[in-house]
Amino acid sequence: MKFSDFGKRFHGYSGITHLMDDLAEGLAQPGVIMLGGGNPATIPEVEMVFDRVLGELHDAGGLMETLANYDAPQGKGAFLETLAGFFQEQYGWNITSKNIALTHGSQSAFFILFNSFAGKSGNATRRVLIPLVPEYIGYCDVGIEADILTSQQARIAHRDDGFFKYQVDFENLQVDDSIGLICVSRPTNPSGNVLTDDECSQLDQIARTHDVPLLIDSAYGTPFPNIIFDPVTPFWNDNCIVCMSLSKLGLPGARTGIVIANEDVISYFSNMTAITSLAPAGIGAAIVNQLIIERELLPLCDDLIRPFYKARAELAVALLRASIDDPRLHIHKPQGAMFLWLWFEGLGVTSTELYQRLKRRGLLVVPGKYFFPGQDVDTNRHAESCLRMNYVQSEQELAKGVEILARELRNCW
Ligand SMILES: Cc1ncc(COP(=O)(O)O)c(C=O)c1O
Repeated sequence: MKFSDFGKRFHGYSGITHLMDDLAEGLAQPGVIMLGGGNPATIPEVEMVFDRVLGELHDAGGLMETLANYDAPQGKGAFLETLAGFFQEQYGWNITSKNIALTHGSQSAFFILFNSFAGKSGNATRRVLIPLVPEYIGYCDVGIEADILTSQQARIAHRDDGFFKYQVDFENLQVDDSIGLICVSRPTNPSGNVLTDDECSQLDQIARTHDVPLLIDSAYGTPFPNIIFDPVTPFWNDNCIVCMSLSKLGLPGARTGIVIANEDVISYFSNMTAITSLAPAGIGAAIVNQLIIERELLPLCDDLIRPFYKARAELAVALLRASIDDPRLHIHKPQGAMFLWLWFEGLGVTSTELYQRLKRRGLLVVPGKYFFPGQDVDTNRHAESCLRMNYVQSEQELAKGVEILARELRNCW
């Protein structure tokens, strides 16, 4: 078979494929402690709510109606109307349903958006600027052309509470006409960092000055799933593209992402959906539409989902501090999402080697180097001294995982 350049580009083994393979391998092996993936936790009270709503939809005929019909390329009309009203009410955002489109998960939205604003443009090549790395592994390989990403490594601020926090290094951030899109996740996967309101405003200013959109990936953000522990102001204006998702609410199988942008971008986006996949999935939209109408969505997030993850984050930090009493362990302040980001200063092996050793002992995590899109990780000491672990597993699993990590570190420092 002869692949085209496009085909060849996606033929290789990417970071995200590696992660998904490990997730599958981890899930398939009994006894392995899976602190590697990004699957949301099983929270029985939350699943009961989804079960109930599915039952109600079934009884009222809405489930069959959703499954038996294509929605419009922009997504289920009733849900778009409900969402527009919801954002107006919650945040006073001046939007209508024409500012919202649904996608097959937000990951597929990044593929469309990155390649729509970056890549070959006439004689020039435009790039996606990631103003703070470490950043989400899922951005690394979505460019149809290679090398469409450029990024700036974060500044490190050590805090009085014993954590460290990444900050955008505005002094060294290089923005010129070759930039086509600026992209951040807030909260950030992998570090649990949450960009401050001031950082968002500055990035917004930079984006406007250069006439490029600012993409804010809010997969873990407000108002849903609201896995964010310190209050910050949600950010949107007509130069922003905010991507949300139903996955971290607990519905990753529904494959539903939500894009909020100006009408031009949304109409373009709907065209792309029609061409690439006809219409987005409708089942997640039907469930969450009902939850919003019945005013159940926010209590679900605020009273069940956020407290669950906050408690798990605190537990994981306590376990790490108790087992690894070493000043060379630095933990990023967990401000949201579902991961702890650990920096082992002066680690004697690479993060990939540490990962392999932990895997042999039955613990799966993700090596730090995958989270530095747009950087040369082979020469990046910081990237090779970090790893990401999730805190979605049970207390017992977390405790076992941390014990394995503590034991192996004794051989690596
Ligand atoms: C920061 C971030 N954005 C987006 C996604 C993709 O979510 P989905 O495609 O399921 O909506 C993830 C998944 O882990 C993520 O961590």
